[in-house]
Amino acid sequence: APQPTTLQEELAQLKKDKNAVILAHYYQEPEIQEVADFIGDSLELAKKAAETSAEIIVFAGVHFMAETAKILNPSKRVFLPDLNAGCSLADSCPPEAFRKLKEQYPDHVVVTYINCSAEIKTHSDVVCTSSNAEKVINSIPPEKQIIFAPDKNLGKYLMQKTGREMLLWDGACIVHEAFSLDKMLELYKQHPSAKIIAHPESETHILKIANYIGSTSGMLNYVKGSEHDTFIVATEAGILHQMQNDVPQKTLIPAPAKEDNTCACSECAFMKMNTLKKLYDCLAKETPEIKLSEDLMKKALVPIKRMLQLS
Ligand code: 13P
Ligand code: SF4
Repeated sequence: APQPTTLQEELAQLKKDKNAVILAHYYQEPEIQEVADFIGDSLELAKKAAETSAEIIVFAGVHFMAETAKILNPSKRVFLPDLNAGCSLADSCPPEAFRKLKEQYPDHVVVTYINCSAEIKTHSDVVCTSSNAEKVINSIPPEKQIIFAPDKNLGKYLMQKTGREMLLWDGACIVHEAFSLDKMLELYKQHPSAKIIAHPESETHILKIANYIGSTSGMLNYVKGSEHDTFIVATEAGILHQMQNDVPQKTLIPAPAKEDNTCACSECAFMKMNTLKKLYDCLAKETPEIKLSEDLMKKALVPIKRMLQLS
């Protein structure tokens, strides 16, 4: 492992002094992942947040993740290095429009992917992440109709996996919709022994050619356990840091993005708003903080708890 920088050491000390825990998602910058107490996929991070005995949670991830941690710990203080670290998928589901859809289908069970705002969660019967979505959907009685929001790509994938019809919200993640099928097939021609692994937020035509589909942790476990040595990785490029640490001898190729994408590979601009400096400052100055009304937290907790009970 690389030697910690001065700022990383100072952050480690500050964390001890304040009894704080740093939870980081795999899409964060390597120097942030290095100082985290725990790195995980969305479900693991929610579970860690629910279990922690620390007084302060600093969330190195995006807003909905820090919000979930706060909802699970209303009495703790939760900080996010940059409050603008949102999520295109969460943004694609505005509460007012969602409430209207729900009104049209009052008898449907509402399943929401964790990538949505706390307010959307208050309209949800059960939350899911990419690692437990199948289980969550299979837990719903077969005679019940389902609304699934906000990710249509994950929703389509789940319909095919579970055989359940679902009414899908028309939302998507800009990062996972940026992959180019043509470029990927071209790349595959150059590496015919490669295995293609993809996050289920990717589009159907990408998932069709994938050898493995799963959450960030699922992909890491797959690569670790596989006898193959080359992988084309279709998710946010930040995951390559942990993946390469896990399998230093294997070849990992980030899935190529479409021509018009701002980045040749796929980076989540929201995740990348957090920097080590902002992380340090946010714990030092105890701001920006996630603040939610008691009522919102109480209502949003119900579907999150239901998910945790199921997983
Ligand atoms: P997971 O880590 O749960 O697979 O989620 C990926 C993602 O897009 C988070 O925003
Ligand atoms: Fe949201 Fe996509 Fe970024 Fe994940 S990668 S935080 S789903 S915009």
